[in-house]
Amino acid sequence: MKKASVTVPASTANLGAGFDCLALALGLRNTVELYETKQGLEIDVEGEGAERVATDTTNLTYRAAQAVFEKTGYRPPGLRLHAVNGIPVGSGLGSSSAAIVGGLAAANALVGGRLSRQELLRLAMEIEGHPDNVAAAIFGGLTLVSASGEELLVKSLPVPPLKVVIALPDLRLSTAQARAALPQHVPLEDAVFNIGHAVFTVQALTAGDFELLRRAMNDRLHQPYRKRLIPGYDAVAAEARKAGAVAVALSGAGPSLVAFAPERHGEIADAMKAAFEAHSLPCRTFILPVDRQGVQVSVVSL
Ligand code: HSE
Repeated sequence: MKKASVTVPASTANLGAGFDCLALALGLRNTVELYETKQGLEIDVEGEGAERVATDTTNLTYRAAQAVFEKTGYRPPGLRLHAVNGIPVGSGLGSSSAAIVGGLAAANALVGGRLSRQELLRLAMEIEGHPDNVAAAIFGGLTLVSASGEELLVKSLPVPPLKVVIALPDLRLSTAQARAALPQHVPLEDAVFNIGHAVFTVQALTAGDFELLRRAMNDRLHQPYRKRLIPGYDAVAAEARKAGAVAVALSGAGPSLVAFAPERHGEIADAMKAAFEAHSLPCRTFILPVDRQGVQVSVVSL
């Protein structure tokens, strides 16, 4: 039986100023196993948020796999898809991107790796609607991406070993809701502010320069509009800084926040959790390293 097994990392997108352009892959993974069977479709999901994930043809991983089969003209007689999720769903940690990239990469392995990572990225963007998390899930590391119409620039940069703290409040906030909170037009001054802060955020992360990161990780394009959707946002960020974080940002579209620090990660996690709980939001925390590898195809039997 043909089988492909892949693992895909979580990611934290935007990194403050880099709205839809920057993301960092993180050491927390989903696994996707895709089997070619004689007939029919069987999908089962276990792990994080399994009860919230569709197991019919609307399943994101399945749709992504289909996109590869359509693009390459391959028609498997039947499929079995088994997903084991380590990434919390709807968290701001790129779970939907990981689901999509897992389906793309597994299907691509079944067709003999005919599509390049760049081609997989284009398919992933079409399904996800924004490019930053899917780029990080594919390429790993600190990913820079610029997608506009047909133009697609992508580059993954290595970063020195680094851990981040994620505080995930028990709050339902979809990416669609968080994007709907954004204005269609922004002042030129704010756009310029973000361009400058984004380039210095890249410099700070690639150099492991936490003092620069403290000054660079700031944003005027999305966080000011989104933070009102997250009770306690300012208090959580302030408590993280008090506990030793040099920078705090909304992780992707939220609801999780990400804190950067050279040390004291446990104390920062505790402080963020306590601050969310003071706003009546139960909170889970994660201390995660940066992932340098991106999607990995671990087993292929053809
Ligand atoms: N750049 C996207 C956004 C990331 O902020 O909407 C979503 O995870």
